[in-house]
Amino acid sequence: MSTRIVRTQVLSATNPSPIATAIGNRSALVVLSPTVYSHYGSKVKAAIEGLPAGQRSTCVLETGETRKTLKSVEELIANAHACGLPRDGVIVGIGGGVLLDLVGLAASLFRRGIPHLKIGTTLVAQTDAAVGLKCGANSSGAKNIVGAFYPPELVLTDGTFLTTLNKRDIRCGLSEMVKLAISTDAGLFHMIAAEGALLLDPANRDSVAARRLIDRSIIGMTNELNANPFESDLRRRVDFGHTISGAFEVASGHSILHGEAVALDVALFSALSMLLGHLTQDELDGILQLHLSLGIKIWNPIMEDSDLIERGLAASASHRGRRLNLPLPDGIGQTFFVTERSDLPDGLIDAAIAIVRQAAAKPCLIRH
Ligand SMILES: NC(=O)c1ccc[n+]([C@@H]2O[C@H](COP(=O)([O-])OP(=O)(O)OC[C@H]3O[C@@H](n4cnc5c(N)ncnc54)[C@H](O)[C@@H]3O)[C@@H](O)[C@H]2O)c1
Repeated sequence: MSTRIVRTQVLSATNPSPIATAIGNRSALVVLSPTVYSHYGSKVKAAIEGLPAGQRSTCVLETGETRKTLKSVEELIANAHACGLPRDGVIVGIGGGVLLDLVGLAASLFRRGIPHLKIGTTLVAQTDAAVGLKCGANSSGAKNIVGAFYPPELVLTDGTFLTTLNKRDIRCGLSEMVKLAISTDAGLFHMIAAEGALLLDPANRDSVAARRLIDRSIIGMTNELNANPFESDLRRRVDFGHTISGAFEVASGHSILHGEAVALDVALFSALSMLLGHLTQDELDGILQLHLSLGIKIWNPIMEDSDLIERGLAASASHRGRRLNLPLPDGIGQTFFVTERSDLPDGLIDAAIAIVRQAAAKPCLIRH
């Protein structure tokens, strides 16, 4: 199982455009979020202009974490039906992780499954959500509680989309990249430390150095997913940063964004790993400082809610075969797992929280 990922100039004026080539002679519904439509709508329309008029439709779907619902999936399906999308048609998602997850889920359900293409327009989407085989929606007050394993036919990546992204969303992507680096790739960690700040400057987001960082993240994530595509092994290194992050997102009413919650989770469990003797103090300092130097927050008062953390741990265990299967860094670039909640000594999580709170309060010399 491997998804085909192609770096290209998605919106180039070539004829046929990469989108039109990927669609071929099929009917297509191209789905964009309002923000992506406002920036790129006319270029996307131009890119599919060469397709026969009856075979191309576009629709704009409201996104945002609170709209990542089955209702939105139904709205998408209604659009697909209204434009007469046949079984051999294709849905093309162009947007952030929320839009791509909704498009994937709608594609998996419409006519019991039709092909879809993913074009990520955020750093989170390009390095993670577009590459992933999963799609989903929030429901019953829980994050991604419904979904499917439904690989896209093709993923197109284009750094020019990143130039219009705000810094907050860039930091969300950086936090996912740092998570991947800590759990699987020490080399990537050092690359982000040296060059990650480039991505904060719109002028550098599609530079050679930025592409190198993004492509290494994409390859790293793809390798992880290919080795365990349908998660038959519930001990997943890339679940690092995703143990209590969902609980933080939901409890904050999604004022904490996905990537921001991942960073809080990474900081807390890195400190825990240090307390368990699997990271040195220097390594932990390096992890926390890297976040701070990129302007990624490692602390939020929500981390003091120990009931919430326990609920988050329990929810993760339900998702991971009723065992905690908690991925923790074992040095930088390696992972070990804590199997059961009871394997964590009493008071250790509180001690980890105290370490992160203290680190966040210290002044950071380099902040972008
Ligand atoms: N399926 C997976 O494997 C997977 C992996 C990682 C994350 N996710 C999901 O992805 C979601 C987070 O994704 P996200 O961080 O992309 O959030 P998002 O989709 O909400 O996008 C963030 C913001 O960026 C805007 N935006 C998108 N592209 C833009 C562009 N080019 N220029 C300017 N603004 C743009 C959007 O309108 C939105 O306001 C979460 O729901 C998470 O669960 C899924």
